[in-house]
Amino acid sequence: MENDVQPKQNHMSKPKNIVLIGLMGSGKTSVGKDLAERLHYRWTDTDAEVEGRVGKRIPDIFQEEGEERFREMESQVLLELLQSSGQVISTGGGIILREENVAAMKKGGLVVYLKVELSELIRRLKDSDRPLIQGDMETRIKEIWKRRQGMYDFAHLHIDTTHRRIPEIVEEILRHLS
Ligand code: S3P
Repeated sequence: MENDVQPKQNHMSKPKNIVLIGLMGSGKTSVGKDLAERLHYRWTDTDAEVEGRVGKRIPDIFQEEGEERFREMESQVLLELLQSSGQVISTGGGIILREENVAAMKKGGLVVYLKVELSELIRRLKDSDRPLIQGDMETRIKEIWKRRQGMYDFAHLHIDTTHRRIPEIVEEILRHLS
């Protein structure tokens, strides 16, 4: 029936915010910057925001003030950012560790999980100074990988980034919005 034919929807539905989650090394920062530019959204990054507020780099915050203090600041920053709209928010890999963060992200925007295979993650993080993977880096990453299994699955959208370049990943997210 002619009346049943829906007009083709080509327009993009822009969510209030887009929140990128995933393990360290999954591409949240690079994808976030490009995606924000394409959408004319503001790019924000919880790690950078925490560093700016504390006035120290993350390895120093962990070492001098402890992980708990970092997690407090991270939550505070996230909840504040989510009060605004029109942002692509790149988060730190551990943002999913607190229930209140997960609840706020689900409510505050479209949550996109950038997935990456373990072997690729190990390759990408080889020279990283991230505090949680110092020492036996490979063992540390494997532990975190195992401990956080399933914790990112609440995301509205799951995108595999393993063998893909940043522009392809950005295109895929944009496709999902249209
Ligand atoms: C962390 C990930 C890091 C940073 C901190 C802790 C984690 O962010 O927040 O080192 O617990 O996974 P990236 O995911 O941007 O590397």
